Amino acid sequence: TFTLSKRKQTSMTVKKGSSLRSAAWFDNPDDPGMTALYIERYLNYGLTREELQSGKPIIGIAQTGSDLSPCNRHHLELAKRVREGIREAGGICFEFPVHPIQETGKRPTAALDRNLAYLGLVELLYGYPIDGVVLTIGCDKTTPACLMAAATVNIPAIALSVGPMLNGWYKGERTGSGTIIWKARKMLAAGEIDYEGFMDLVASSAPSVGYCNTMGTATTMNSLAEALGMQLPGSAAIPAPYRERSQIAYETGRRIVGLVHEDTKPSDIMTREAFENAIVVNSAIGGSTNAPIHLNAIARHLGIPLDNDDWQRLGLEIPLLVNLQPAGTYLGEDYFHAGGVPAVIGELLRNGKLPHPDARTVAGTTIGAACQGVETALPDVIKPFHAPMMANAGFLNLKGNLFDSAIMKTSVISDQFRNRYLSNPNDPDAFEGRAIVFEGPEDYHARIDDPQLDIDETCILIVRGAGPLGYPGGAEVVNMQPPSALIQKGITELPCIGDGRQSGTSGSPSILNAAPEAAAMGGLALVRTGDRIRVDLRKCTANILISEADLAARREALEKQGGFGIAASQTPWQEIQRAMVDQFDQGMVLKPAAYYRDIART
Ligand code: FES
Ligand code: MG
Repeated sequence: TFTLSKRKQTSMTVKKGSSLRSAAWFDNPDDPGMTALYIERYLNYGLTREELQSGKPIIGIAQTGSDLSPCNRHHLELAKRVREGIREAGGICFEFPVHPIQETGKRPTAALDRNLAYLGLVELLYGYPIDGVVLTIGCDKTTPACLMAAATVNIPAIALSVGPMLNGWYKGERTGSGTIIWKARKMLAAGEIDYEGFMDLVASSAPSVGYCNTMGTATTMNSLAEALGMQLPGSAAIPAPYRERSQIAYETGRRIVGLVHEDTKPSDIMTREAFENAIVVNSAIGGSTNAPIHLNAIARHLGIPLDNDDWQRLGLEIPLLVNLQPAGTYLGEDYFHAGGVPAVIGELLRNGKLPHPDARTVAGTTIGAACQGVETALPDVIKPFHAPMMANAGFLNLKGNLFDSAIMKTSVISDQFRNRYLSNPNDPDAFEGRAIVFEGPEDYHARIDDPQLDIDETCILIVRGAGPLGYPGGAEVVNMQPPSALIQKGITELPCIGDGRQSGTSGSPSILNAAPEAAAMGGLALVRTGDRIRVDLRKCTANILISEADLAARREALEKQGGFGIAASQTPWQEIQRAMVDQFDQGMVLKPAAYYRDIART
């Protein structure tokens, strides 16, 4: 488990003079006019010329916390300890805001803002005298936005997680972020609780500062930031209010100064090997289906090839070790007490499953050295490799005439689902069904209970117009519930396919993140209600059972009508992003941004 004292402090010798990037602003004897102009305004609140011209690194704290983003708000407090660490190690601190992203509060979807925060942070890191940066990560999209920016600018960077909330409790039971909402909705619908009870039950899952305490996208991405080597080992899982969280904030501040002196850049840490490690860790923790989008995006900004075939090849057969909701029982505090990411990696190492133990971390050691010998302190929370929660916890990458790539998390297939759809002895890995097509989340909610659709247990629910272009940023919608009439008959899940995403806190075996999306004229644009769909999990295919000629005719007809219609943009950013965003399998990055590398040196 995590201890602060074990880690070696790197000795730092402060180099004087102009080797630092910031010296081009603050200490350029060849251009006193510009130097004076750059420096004078930073003196006006009390910094001294001696400090700014001392050759000490200028360290940015990229602050993602604010009143708008409560998941990350505790970073406003933690930054004080980061500053103390930076100061003590001989750096000067400039804290500045990052465009806030709150997963639950931003409409139409927080995913729209990931690339906006990325762009803003790239511009700040490039345009100001910053030698190294502490990335304050946490809520879902804040982590990839920060790591993507660090990848593009490629100045020394270290990530600091804000940490999960404390465990939620209600009447003696753990209540987890997001996951409790699915349950509470059913209880409200069944009349087991009233409105007040509903609100109390849901609110009980958010008992303190911090991000979602379940294994949703936040815990996933913070764990993966550590697995990638970008956080100090042991730091991802520390709950936000714990004293260890403030202590690691201080250590993180100290360490970034060392990274600047060593000139260790994000590209030295986030290598192809590091991404392969992260994919394996994602399976072991039961990570979110949003992880491939974000990791593929970070890799793309580093110029590292990474695709959904890599996710299947490296991740599929890794077992699920972490027993956290929604797949399991426990929550963030339990994950920390069990040993967090180092205990997961320690277990993978003992079984020869971490592909690259020699990958470097920001601590200065390798990930293997940092996690070797770490054992779980709570074997019911982080399970032994040979008695896991589940085998094969990774993702399948499905292809066919419906899309070129879509992710399926097979580990969440329930026994009921398996018995109903995957139990034909002659065809055990495949199922067929009648397509019911919805045009986006609003259409799904409006029509799911329409008796005219005649939805039964042989149907496959399809939602389209929910991808990066169609519902700008991508709607978290693919985990669709069956109509109430079916639920009352005991059929609680139907196969779902869509070009949107799904919440990391939901446990549905959907086929999602389809690319290209309908709005990009992928095969989903051509499917019609009533079509037969066949999904084969052994061949990794998903197809409309229709001749190629018929499919081509449908495409031609749709193109004649002007293509797949999407709703008008509501904001300027929606329009700008739609003009240049790539598909989910390509990381949903802004295409023109993907060509920029190492820009701090230009
Ligand atoms: Fe912010 Fe879950 S909503 S971490
Ligand atoms: Mg989400």
